[in-house]
Amino acid sequence: MADGYLSFTNTPWGHWLARTLGLPQPLPLQRYRPGQAGNLLNPVVLAAGPQGRLSGELQRIFAATDTVAAVPARIDAPSTVKVRGLVFDASGLADVPQLDELYRFFHANVRRLSAHGRVLVLGTPPEHCTDLAHAVAQRALEGFVRSLGKELRRAITVQLLYVQPGAETEMDSSVRFFLSRRSAYVCGQVVRIAEPVDFPGDILWDKPLTGRRALVTGACRGIGLAIAQVLAGEGAQVVCLDIPAVEAELQLVAASLGGTALALDITAPEAAERLLAFAGEQGTFDIVVHNAGITQDKTLAKMTEAAWRKVMAVNLEAPLRLSTALLEGQGINPGGRIIGVSSIAGIAGNLGQSNYATSKAGVIGLVQGLAPLAARRQVTINGVAPGFIETQMTAKIPLLLREAGRRMNSLAQGGQPEDVAQAIAWLAHPASGGINGQVVRVCGQSLMGA
Ligand SMILES: NC(=O)c1ccc[n+]([C@@H]2O[C@H](COP(=O)([O-])OP(=O)(O)OC[C@H]3O[C@@H](n4cnc5c(N)ncnc54)[C@H](O)[C@@H]3O)[C@@H](O)[C@H]2O)c1
Repeated sequence: MADGYLSFTNTPWGHWLARTLGLPQPLPLQRYRPGQAGNLLNPVVLAAGPQGRLSGELQRIFAATDTVAAVPARIDAPSTVKVRGLVFDASGLADVPQLDELYRFFHANVRRLSAHGRVLVLGTPPEHCTDLAHAVAQRALEGFVRSLGKELRRAITVQLLYVQPGAETEMDSSVRFFLSRRSAYVCGQVVRIAEPVDFPGDILWDKPLTGRRALVTGACRGIGLAIAQVLAGEGAQVVCLDIPAVEAELQLVAASLGGTALALDITAPEAAERLLAFAGEQGTFDIVVHNAGITQDKTLAKMTEAAWRKVMAVNLEAPLRLSTALLEGQGINPGGRIIGVSSIAGIAGNLGQSNYATSKAGVIGLVQGLAPLAARRQVTINGVAPGFIETQMTAKIPLLLREAGRRMNSLAQGGQPEDVAQAIAWLAHPASGGINGQVVRVCGQSLMGA
């Protein structure tokens, strides 16, 4: 659905009016388009605090991606030259006084960042710090990153990557995602990189999912359709699953992607069995995306038990049953990726959505609870939690609530289905085996649950 306010405030008259009235002035996001030259935003400034251990690996990634990374002689050296990314290795900041380095670098450089720029701070996970002062300084980075995300505006995004000691070479896919247009609607996120659960071998960075079989549930429209399209664009063979009632459209979607259609209600009692049989006949999966989901909103006192049960069955019971069946029945290959689709309603709760929020919080529980078992099979399981995404689901929301949903985030607009799809493609990447049991919000840093 078109965002009229976003279009209006980007006309000269609308811009003037919004500025005069002190209203939000969102910039249309610059998103990745296939075939676009270069992946990372260029140039960037790369700086490190004392004892930073990640700069060497970052330099290697920049060299491999032809990214110009200027390393200032002094972290607070003044410059007016515009850049598109600021990267700060804070992994060695060992106590509270050393956090001043963070202040000095960003205070000196933040005005250099152009609109649509990217900020990436890298740290050491506090739980992997051996002394208290280091752990405190590292934990403090979260507050800094989330504040900067709310402050910078102009479609600039800010994230924190905690890289476990020994996992320095595992941050490649995440650095590429967060410093590119693919992460346009992800802001204020904290991601932990650990030792990988698998051994991916050589990676084709141009089409990283080549030779991988991906299952996407609810692929007929909205976010699921975008996921299927993006995964196919990255080289995957996609199995598009949706309910039998939409089989004709599903066949068209699958054909347009050179994939296969699977008409199946994921809540059917025989769904797991049918999926395993399908995998046995046609090939086991490397990527499984549990996207299918429904809402049946009512305040709890007015909600029927049927509405409660239906939402629980589609959004939570089915992903739980299918994930365990695929893992136990060898329906997913080593090196595989399972990705659940939660929601910020599952993090913050939402009026009239007690069933939906319960189911989506349960998806987070599934991701966290199943991660150790999945890792033993060399599979990762992660989740995305979309905020307000422009689909048929959100088009049903009454006008005023819809407008509030769109504006109440750092980017002051709703996301597009492809924003969720790009985050899923990053988690599905063969080089993302160091990310497991995590949920990343795709919500423009929504105030809900922040
Ligand atoms: N749109 C948003 O703003 C938003 C925000 C947060 C989370 N999400 C989540 O993202 C996912 C996709 O949302 P959307 O907006 O694209 O929804 P949508 O309603 O546009 O599409 C959902 C798809 O799932 C399919 N589906 C429903 N029940 C099914 C079943 N039992 N078996 C198989 N397929 C089934 C539908 O037929 C449909 O094609 C959902 O899990 C939703 O909860 C969406």
